[in-house]
Amino acid sequence: MTPVPVILTVILAVIQLSRTEPRKPNELLVITAATEVTDGYLRFMRTIRQFNYTIQVLGLGEQWRGGDVARTVGGGQKVRWLKTELEKHKDKQNTVIMFVDSYDVILASGPVELLRKFSRFSHRVVFSAEGFCWPDQRLASKYPAVHHGKRYLNSGGFIGFAPEIHAIVQQWKYKDDDDDQLFYTRIYLDKEKRRKFNMTLDHRSQIFQNLNGAIEEVVLKFEKSRVRVRNVAYDTLPVVIHGNGPTKLQLNYLGNYVPTAWTYENGCGICEEDLLDLSHLSDEEMPLVHVAVFIEQPMPFLEEFLERLATLNYPHTRIRLFLHNNVVYHEQHVERFWTRHRSLFTGARIVGPEENLKHDQARTMAVEACKKDVSCDYFFSLDADVALTNPDVLRILIEENKSVIAPMLSRHGKLWSNFWGALSPEGFYSRAEDYIDIVQSKRVGLWNVPYITQVYLIRGETLRSRLAAVSLYQQEGMDPDMSFCKSVREQGIFMFVSNRDEFGRLVSSANYNISRLHPDMWQIFDNPVDWREKYIHENYSRIFEDDESVVEQPCPDVYWFPAFSERMCDDLVETMEEFGQWSGGGHKDERLSGGYENVPTVDIHMNQIQFEKEWLKFLKEYIVPVTEKLYPGYYPKAQAVMNFVVRYRPDEQPSLRPHHDSSTFTINIALNSKGVDYEGGGCRFLRYNCKVESPRKGWSFMHPGRLTHYHEGLPTTRGTRYIMVSFVDP
Ligand SMILES: *[C@@H]1O[C@H](CO)[C@@H](O)[C@H](O)[C@H]1NC(C)=O
Ligand SMILES: *[C@@H]1O[C@H](CO)[C@@H](O)[C@H](O)[C@H]1NC(C)=O
Ligand SMILES: *[C@@H]1O[C@H](CO)[C@@H](O)[C@H](O)[C@H]1NC(C)=O
Ligand SMILES: *[C@@H]1O[C@H](CO)[C@@H](O)[C@H](O)[C@H]1NC(C)=O
Ligand SMILES: *[C@@H]1O[C@H](CO)[C@@H](O)[C@H](O)[C@H]1NC(C)=O
Repeated sequence: MTPVPVILTVILAVIQLSRTEPRKPNELLVITAATEVTDGYLRFMRTIRQFNYTIQVLGLGEQWRGGDVARTVGGGQKVRWLKTELEKHKDKQNTVIMFVDSYDVILASGPVELLRKFSRFSHRVVFSAEGFCWPDQRLASKYPAVHHGKRYLNSGGFIGFAPEIHAIVQQWKYKDDDDDQLFYTRIYLDKEKRRKFNMTLDHRSQIFQNLNGAIEEVVLKFEKSRVRVRNVAYDTLPVVIHGNGPTKLQLNYLGNYVPTAWTYENGCGICEEDLLDLSHLSDEEMPLVHVAVFIEQPMPFLEEFLERLATLNYPHTRIRLFLHNNVVYHEQHVERFWTRHRSLFTGARIVGPEENLKHDQARTMAVEACKKDVSCDYFFSLDADVALTNPDVLRILIEENKSVIAPMLSRHGKLWSNFWGALSPEGFYSRAEDYIDIVQSKRVGLWNVPYITQVYLIRGETLRSRLAAVSLYQQEGMDPDMSFCKSVREQGIFMFVSNRDEFGRLVSSANYNISRLHPDMWQIFDNPVDWREKYIHENYSRIFEDDESVVEQPCPDVYWFPAFSERMCDDLVETMEEFGQWSGGGHKDERLSGGYENVPTVDIHMNQIQFEKEWLKFLKEYIVPVTEKLYPGYYPKAQAVMNFVVRYRPDEQPSLRPHHDSSTFTINIALNSKGVDYEGGGCRFLRYNCKVESPRKGWSFMHPGRLTHYHEGLPTTRGTRYIMVSFVDP
């Protein structure tokens, strides 16, 4: 044997090796094509940066002439650009080129893993694969059979050595709006060319995951420091995720997690970057925000809502207020708000119900004002059912630096919120897997979602560019909110919802009855937090902090603590006076059927004003906890049939003779102020000869009803005194 063949073999082996194995596997160039900087493009580039890919972007700023690829065929322009670009790389034997789309693509892992997976294919060129034969289904039968995996070529992603990619795209000699996928498909289906370029398809998503037709195969896999998309049909971890065809929303969903360093502990990884810094700006330099407020139906707690506009922590000189009120009942509230705060809001525009503007017209008017005003930096749309209790909301949302962003809000303790995590095929609500976790803030971050409503911030620039020609709120057969979200989605603009901060809650107007004088009083069930803030004494909660200044014991076993706000006292008294059917006694026997004396008072019962259910709820939520604290071991059932407001007047009934109450314990809340509204009054417990002569408005007495606490109502000598009495657990 001579050495020559051996050397030849070795040389051949080296040549062979050099054909299949990149000698410098990190020599990788990613090429993409994009004419515009869209949100999808920025998302793609973020993943490029995160993994330190080397990227070449083709076509930025150029006119797109590749057709409407979302609806039909096209995309040839991309191949033309690639053909030119690859002239630079055609001789680089060891350079690997990956071409991917950008608007609907994210990368889930880095170059090292990508090249390793590419090497395993042992081919010079690998195209992504999918389950649909597009754009020419007649070609389906020409494809090689595949037993396990996707059979058809997709040109949204491919990878290969520079010389082969170059050779392939050199064959392009078509028009810009001819179809790129058809072009690559024809080459692949030509056996001769397939062999020559050593092409294969990534049938089992080793590298490329096309989502179209494969949604069911894809799950999120939460690793320690990042999240991967996993294909459970083939048990692979693809590197390139492509939301092709109608799967853009699914990609947006995956993009909320992949490839960020998201964990349950520290929230969302992408959130920290890209924050705008407003801290160095003076008040005058802050962005100008058009705040548009919409009162489109009767709304509980509207006074409080309006008041919050005045307490926003944002320079009011940098706010232009637009307010549409479509509700006659609320004119009084808007007027009162305006009288108090007009000086804060220069250049405001208030549109009342007399202008007969429809909901969508009002929204259009407001948004057009920002579109036309080049100094309008942001448009903030706010509906009256949003209780924004975080006064920093504008600053926070602006700092997030997104085109469209909403603060996440839900009804107290409910899953009802102002966003949808997913859409049904018909474009309506569909529950996303993470919806509940986001609403309950078990997952915290910034979420790209298909639908937001009631409150959101839009960049003025976005309105004047991508949305300039779009009718946001007025589309045939569609509610303004649906129309808005659809328009924004169709322009490729991402809508984010943030639960990184607490912003407030949504108010429910479902059972709001404005034929009542003070309808908010009835909202204890539907809007318990707003009710509490309005109607419960601000120091009530201190009872449970063992604050001795808020629970007094003026007589043995008689406790005295703050219960109602001033507002509750006033609204209750006004409601009773408006109702007006004060009883003069006589019918009291039935309620004192426990064998006690008949002690007639001038009163109106809660059931007479249809407030009994609400009152019992109040007892349960606010009085029972106090009882359990003050009388340890006693667990009230909080039943009460006797709940009434008593009126004392010198000329009517000034006092009440000594009596027992038919209750286990009694609460007695002063509804107005001694020295202001009346003189005299008070209560005396005969057994202890102990008097409380200066009841405080909103404060409640609580004492045992029977046996030990025989008591009398002391005479009111001037004016009118009101008290609220409840016999608990008769
Ligand atoms: C990317 O490069 C930066 C700076 O060179 C480095 O700190 C970082 O760890 C790299 N990231 C990855 C995923 O390799
Ligand atoms: C591609 O190249 C590899 C290695 O040279 C070879 O094993 C394989 O058969 C080639 N495939 C085709 C389809 O030519
Ligand atoms: C804010 O967003 C714009 C547009 O997306 C971007 O150009 C800019 O760099 C971002 N600012 C910061 C501080 O990240
Ligand atoms: C609304 O309030 C009016 C006046 O208090 C009352 O007569 C009516 O029954 C209420 N309607 C409902 C549905 O509660
Ligand atoms: C609540 O307590 C504080 C401090 O004791 C007091 O200043 C304030 O007036 C109280 N609020 C009301 C409504 O009485």
